[in-house]
Amino acid sequence: MDKTQFLQGVSLFSDLPTGTLTPLAEKMLELNFPRGERICTENDKGDALFILKSGIVEISVGEGPEKKILAYLKRGDYFGEMAIFTGDPRSATVQAIADVSVLGLTKTDFEVEVRRSPAIALELLKTLSRRLTKQNLASTKDGASARGKLIFLTASQKKAGKTAVARDLASALNDSFEGKVVFLDPNVTNADVALSLGIEDPCDLAQELVSAESVTLDKYLVKTAEGLWVLPPQETQNTVYPLREAHHHILLNALLDRFEYVVVDSSSTMASFNRHLMRSADRLVVLLSGSQEDLKSFLDPFHNLVVKNNHIDPRRLLTIANLDSEDAGQGLEEKLGSYRGDLMLKLPFAPQAHQTAATARQAIPTLLPEAEWTKAIEALARRIVLEHEVDVFFPRDAENLETQKREAKDFELELEKVFSEDVATEEVELQDFLGTESGPGLRIHCRMTSEELRAGMDPFLQAVTRLRARLGLDEITIRVDGRPSIL
Ligand code: CMP
Repeated sequence: MDKTQFLQGVSLFSDLPTGTLTPLAEKMLELNFPRGERICTENDKGDALFILKSGIVEISVGEGPEKKILAYLKRGDYFGEMAIFTGDPRSATVQAIADVSVLGLTKTDFEVEVRRSPAIALELLKTLSRRLTKQNLASTKDGASARGKLIFLTASQKKAGKTAVARDLASALNDSFEGKVVFLDPNVTNADVALSLGIEDPCDLAQELVSAESVTLDKYLVKTAEGLWVLPPQETQNTVYPLREAHHHILLNALLDRFEYVVVDSSSTMASFNRHLMRSADRLVVLLSGSQEDLKSFLDPFHNLVVKNNHIDPRRLLTIANLDSEDAGQGLEEKLGSYRGDLMLKLPFAPQAHQTAATARQAIPTLLPEAEWTKAIEALARRIVLEHEVDVFFPRDAENLETQKREAKDFELELEKVFSEDVATEEVELQDFLGTESGPGLRIHCRMTSEELRAGMDPFLQAVTRLRARLGLDEITIRVDGRPSIL
């Protein structure tokens, strides 16, 4: 397809008389960018507009852990119009996430076209308004909570039972948030796994992901017998277009817009998509085998990712130990160090079940003491839902320790009425938690959902005020999610 033909199908130029397209096409330069390359960088000067001829780009703002993805664009979409319109620096970074080919038009050439054809300006205005509205909606609805939460599962060992955990975790979340949870297995390539998910029909979503203006997820989503939404297998012999990593980015974005929880099972074939998920997941659930060798090969690169790149906040991390391997449990907690998170579920895996054919996966939970399995998964789901933690600290007074503990107990009871998780008091060294303050102290710790935190703030503050008065303290330190509270 030549440039003119391609431009005919681009919405920006759809109202231009055909005769004007050829001279316009001649002014455009075709440029290619390999996957991973940046086309525009936020805050750089920009003097060209680009139209995507093939491939997919990611639009984002911020860097590293602060990076926020705004959109994905594909064939026929355009970008770079804002800087050439306003004269401001680039408002976002545009990066190729699949090999990309674009047609570039300089600011000067573009301005000539806009003057000649107001239809272009009107079309641009439409796109700009749409992009702005979407962004405004995202920022007014309490930022992150406007979108779903991404729960990503990965494992240190193949056949650790990850798929079974992921699927049952999604179901457990769905018990509390019915219809608001979706399970995505980017690796669902085989009919047996599909069957274990309760899916029968394969479909080809890729076609739509590259060609349609917006993805119509509804017709691809399937509800399992338990009421959990699942994205059916996308890559079977029947599919014309197998999904590639770039498609999964778009897909995930669309799922996060639509669901409250998106549970993703890591894919053994999509390394860079996995890394992206690790960085951006709200909760990263890691299944660790207790075997020395396995832990080492997993934790070393993981450590690089977490510490060196500072990409994963340990607070987002939930680790689960597989106590079924040979040297299970021996020094495991010590080895895990800071990756321990604060959850060590003892999932009674049956590794032999994972070494058999895929159909056996279906049976994993039933091979195990079911109550124990269910309890562990429910605990995991609960930890995911309880997103916030509040700590109350005050100095320990050796002479009045018993009174202090009694008052703390009453305070705990008051908090339990407001927040769902059990509240606990422990004796601590204050500098371990507060840095600057030193000496022995008491810490009252509780976890809660976002809704509980919002709704329970007033009763919580009243309870703190009463506690302070009863203990005759000048000050009580409160931390919300580890940060000094503004209260
Ligand atoms: P510009 O600011 O020149 O460079 C970055 C480009 O990213 C920008 O023009 C737009 O084309 C594009 N962009 C910025 N914000 C969004 C958004 N919210 N949705 C889609 N595209 C965007």
